[in-house]
Amino acid sequence: MANKKTELPKIDSRLNSIGIIMDGNGRWAKKRLLPRSAGHLAGAKVIEGVLNDLREMGIHHVTLYAFSTENWSRPKAEVDGLMKLIYKYLDEVVAKKIVEDGSFCMRFLGDKSRLPEKLRDKCIEIENMAPDREFVCNLALNYGGRDEIISAANAAFAECGGAITKEDLERHLYTSHSPDPDLIIRTGGEMRISNFLLWQGAYSELHVTDTLWPDFGREDIVRAVEDFYSRQRRYGGVIEE
Ligand code: FPP
Repeated sequence: MANKKTELPKIDSRLNSIGIIMDGNGRWAKKRLLPRSAGHLAGAKVIEGVLNDLREMGIHHVTLYAFSTENWSRPKAEVDGLMKLIYKYLDEVVAKKIVEDGSFCMRFLGDKSRLPEKLRDKCIEIENMAPDREFVCNLALNYGGRDEIISAANAAFAECGGAITKEDLERHLYTSHSPDPDLIIRTGGEMRISNFLLWQGAYSELHVTDTLWPDFGREDIVRAVEDFYSRQRRYGGVIEE
């Protein structure tokens, strides 16, 4: 159980951007003999507290994996429920937060065209409310890393008309406004990246916790940050001792 009294860790400029794979809602619900939708609802409820903590700690970019291009294969009732839940969350929580908290904005990563029209319009409205602020939350919605790379490569090629560079491609990624994640946290214990930020995560440190997303709180943030600072980032090189 998250303890609100737990002090947030001190960070420095090495940790500026975090990605989170929010996994384990279904198992959280199953343990309580509840429907999966109850797990998603509980998962939605912890998001705001986590964002507040990360911002207070000094993080500037957070990318949350809310719905992947592969998640459409789930039962229709679950997909419909998630779409409704995400709409409600944007409408009731996020819009209010953008108005009340002058440093917060939200951007969406993924192909909006497949989203229900009402949700797509809400995403556009939310982005237009505050295009760029000090604390950016990227919500990956109908997002897939492979699709993102293919469409960025095609767009860069069309723009350049020939061989493209890393910078040409990066200009066309959904994340062109945010730095690569220094740290990717995955809840729910699975040791995989699940098509999340495949390009941007090339040198991200990975922290996997068994905590299920609806139980994720300050103590988990502290553990993830400590784990990050215990690593030596070498980017394929060597550190002279
Ligand atoms: C994975 O857990 C989670 C998802 C596919 C959805 C994530 C959604 C939320 C955290 C809540 C709604 C989001 C917003 C932005 C309001 P799972 O269902 O695969 O869990 P399992 O692995 O235990 O089955």
